[in-house]
Amino acid sequence: MRMFIAVLLSLVSSVVLADPCDVVVLHNPGKIEWPGGKQDVKQGHEFLTKVIAAGGRVQSVARVDLPMATSGSFAAPGNRKNQITLIWTVYDDSSSDPLDLIDPGKLYGSKRPAPDGIGKIYMGREISQVMGHLGANWLERPEREQEERTDLLVELMEVDPDDVIADIGSGSGYFTLRMAPRVPEGRAIGVDIQPEMNAILLENARKQGIENVETILGEIDDVKIPDNTVDVVLLVDAYHEFSNPWEMKRSMLKALKPGGRVVLVEYREEDPTVMILPHHKMSEKQARLEFESAGFRWITTHDELPQQHVLIFEKPMVQPTAG
Ligand SMILES: C[S@@+](CC[C@H](N)C(=O)[O-])C[C@H]1O[C@@H](n2cnc3c(N)ncnc32)[C@H](O)[C@@H]1O
Repeated sequence: MRMFIAVLLSLVSSVVLADPCDVVVLHNPGKIEWPGGKQDVKQGHEFLTKVIAAGGRVQSVARVDLPMATSGSFAAPGNRKNQITLIWTVYDDSSSDPLDLIDPGKLYGSKRPAPDGIGKIYMGREISQVMGHLGANWLERPEREQEERTDLLVELMEVDPDDVIADIGSGSGYFTLRMAPRVPEGRAIGVDIQPEMNAILLENARKQGIENVETILGEIDDVKIPDNTVDVVLLVDAYHEFSNPWEMKRSMLKALKPGGRVVLVEYREEDPTVMILPHHKMSEKQARLEFESAGFRWITTHDELPQQHVLIFEKPMVQPTAG
């Protein structure tokens, strides 16, 4: 860092006033190269987007006063392999979380759609089609418990009685209604973008006499849950369908309390015996890449289920934001 500041000082003019700047240390596994010298602030933010799109991560942020002469961005190698340090002038209204500066539109590509895909690419993966509400009966099939050991998944979640659980992409509420009795002093929230699914969930809750349940009509890029209010986000066979995964992850991260968990359940792509359409599967490596780049910390992966990975991520207690 000291070397970086020295380089910076040599680039700016002799006697200048200090400006608030963000010094952002990034893991840069894609080895994205800085265009060189001093750039404008927007260029710094675009560079950040490229590093994240290539699987990079924010490692630390510090907001400090530096003599930048005029506003701009710089970069220098970090202390460790595949690390890069970015620095840019902060405007008054700039977010203190660099990941809020990402332009999501620049993270997505396109291709001719596969039979079960939508032709939109995110971090090397084609996003799958959404399962329509007419498939609700398949989600509720009685043999599902045995096929997927859904009972074991409920145990693996290890919730506390007063937890607030958000089941995102809840569909008919198969898991929302199995989790609700486990949080008698808390509640289970089902979030789906299909109002028909939410209606099915509420009808199933009524039939089963479960009261600590509510539904939210989400948007494709927003879970519509207030910040810092959820203990556990559950995603079962849903994340691969999200048409705007970056925005959804950022929205889920904000909805979680610090230290709150994501339980991500996806069919194992690594296992050719799992008979699910290709874009409805995901490898552990891909899932970690996607969640870690969006600010989540990986805790562990359970592989006890017959067909699915269960990845646990955490919202860090201290976000890598400038203070
Ligand atoms: C395959 S179903 C899984 C339902 C449920 N999790 C289960 O395992 O029984 C996926 C659900 O995700 C929902 N979905 C897709 N994109 C979504 C988004 N951006 N936000 C919320 N729900 C979404 C779909 O409408 C669908 O009901």
